[in-house]
This record gives sequence, C-alpha cells and structure tokens, in this order.
Amino acid sequence: MGTARRTVAFLGTGTMGEALLTGALAGGLDPSDMWVTARSQDHVDALTSSYAVHGTTDNATAAANAQVVVLAVPPAGLTDILAEIAGRLEEGAVVVSLADGITLADLEDLLPDGVAAARAMPSLTASVGHGLTLLTPGASCSTAQAETVTRFFERSGKVLRIAEDQHAVLSPLSSGGPAYVFYLADAMIEAGAVRGVPRDLARELITQVLTGSAAWLRADSAEVATLREKVCAPGGTGIRRIAALDRHAVRAAVVSALTQEP
Ligand SMILES: NC(=O)c1ccc[n+]([C@@H]2O[C@H](COP(=O)([O-])OP(=O)(O)OC[C@H]3O[C@@H](n4cnc5c(N)ncnc54)[C@H](OP(=O)(O)O)[C@@H]3O)[C@@H](O)[C@H]2O)c1
Repeated sequence: MGTARRTVAFLGTGTMGEALLTGALAGGLDPSDMWVTARSQDHVDALTSSYAVHGTTDNATAAANAQVVVLAVPPAGLTDILAEIAGRLEEGAVVVSLADGITLADLEDLLPDGVAAARAMPSLTASVGHGLTLLTPGASCSTAQAETVTRFFERSGKVLRIAEDQHAVLSPLSSGGPAYVFYLADAMIEAGAVRGVPRDLARELITQVLTGSAAWLRADSAEVATLREKVCAPGGTGIRRIAALDRHAVRAAVVSALTQEP
C-alpha cells in the first residue's frame, strides 16, 4: 500500500454499510477518506449530507479512489459490481466481500490477477462501536494489506481473524447474535408489561441487565452456568423460573435453532 492515507469505499451502503460507516466515523475515520455508493442518487445525497463523505452512484469512481473496497451490496449484485470496477482498482487495493457464502476462491476468480481479496462478516452492533467482524484475508493479501483492513473494521469494534471454513459456523452466532438477544429482551419486556410495568421502564431495566450481564461475563472467567447459579439461590424464585424455562425446553430450542439449517 503506497501512501499513508487509507481510503475506504463502500459499494452499496444499506443497513450493514451504514452501520459500519457510522461506527468507523465515530471511531476516528476521517469522512474525507470515505467513499460510498448506492443505486439511487437520493440515497447517495442522504448519505453525503448526513456523514460528509464522498458519494456517487458510479461504483467504478468510488473504487478507483480507495485502497480498501468493501462490497456491501446484496450477494446477487456482486458479480455485476466486480465487472464494473475490475479495470479501475488502485494498485495495492484490497476488495473485501461481506457476502455470506461467497468464497475467497469465487471472489479471486472474479477479480483481475494481482488484486487482493478478503472476506468479512460484520455485525450491525458496529453502529454503536461494539461490532464484531469475522475476517479472513485471502492468500493474495500481504501482511500490510491485511493489517489495513483489520484496522478499518477495528474502528467500529473487535476483529477476529478466522479460517475461511469457520465462517459458516461462527457467522450465525456473531452476525445473527443481536437478533437472538433482542428476541429474549423483547420477551422480558413483555413479561414486565404483563405484570403492569410500563414498557419504557421495562426496556430501561432490561437494557441495564444486558449491559451488566455482558460486563460480568467478560470480567469473570467462571463457567457461564456458575454465574447463573450465583443469581439462583437453591429453592429461590430465580431457580424455579429457570426450571420453568427448562420445562418449556427453551435451552434445547436455542441450541436446535442455532445448529440446524433453518
Ligand atoms: N444486514 C445485516 O445484518 C448483515 C450482516 C452481515 C453481513 N451482511 C451482508 O452485507 C451485505 C449488504 O447487506 P445489507 O443488509 O446492508 O443490504 P441492504 O440493506 O439491502 O443494502 C444494500 C445497499 O446496496 C445498494 N446497492 C444495490 N445494488 C447496487 C449497485 N449495483 N450499485 C451500488 N449500490 C447498490 C443499495 O442501494 P439503494 O439503497 O440505492 O437501493 C443499498 O444501499 C450483504 O452481503 C449481506 O449479506 C449484512
């Protein structure tokens, strides 16, 4: 990578692209180092006016200005976009795909010789600076290129380098994870509402419970079951409510939902 500036382009800036953009800017990325594209000019205008980044509907123009090119379009659009940008990539650019199921070999087949590729699976929690990106730099990436990509995703949270064959197992837990946590949070808020607790108060309470539980889980290396037991004195209401969850096979349902093909 020749120059000191590490310019990044998002080709497609929808739900995931905007989450990463928000997190990266809050994490110190200079908006003048960022290019974004979308299909519609209205969307590009909204992004440039909200974030003061460069924007265009022309993917090749954005790609030509960037050293890290993130493909954040729906997977069906990937092949067309790669054809659009193929001849316009900067020397030393790395193309990073967020598409589930598109392998590095697929990507490298579609890219011109000598262009480096990487696979990343981020999480929408990037928007609040607590993202987790599973990253696999391709064999075509130099150490410096892999570091540049890592540093970009680290602006919005953690980066875990994984082997490519781990994506299928880890992505549903990390990228899909917030959905399951929100499912539980929603049910807990509902339980409060059933007992007459105003929903905004229940939400405030559950949010702090989630924040505190995550901090405790990170700080204490004891088994998760041990932490749970600390909250559930023998014979108390906590343990009886956990027993009620077990009678409904909630734990087995979670394991089954996250391990079987939906
Ligand atoms: N959403 C998630 O939680 C999540 C998590 C991990 C990974 N991902 C991956 O991230 C990628 C994007 O997903 P998403 O949820 O962000 O999709 P999305 O919300 O549908 O956004 C797609 C974006 O791509 C733009 N677009 C589509 N075709 C384009 C083209 N030819 N040129 C330029 N821009 C184009 C759209 O522009 P317009 O707005 O103008 O139509 C839109 O901004 C996918 O590969 C997905 O698997 C998503």
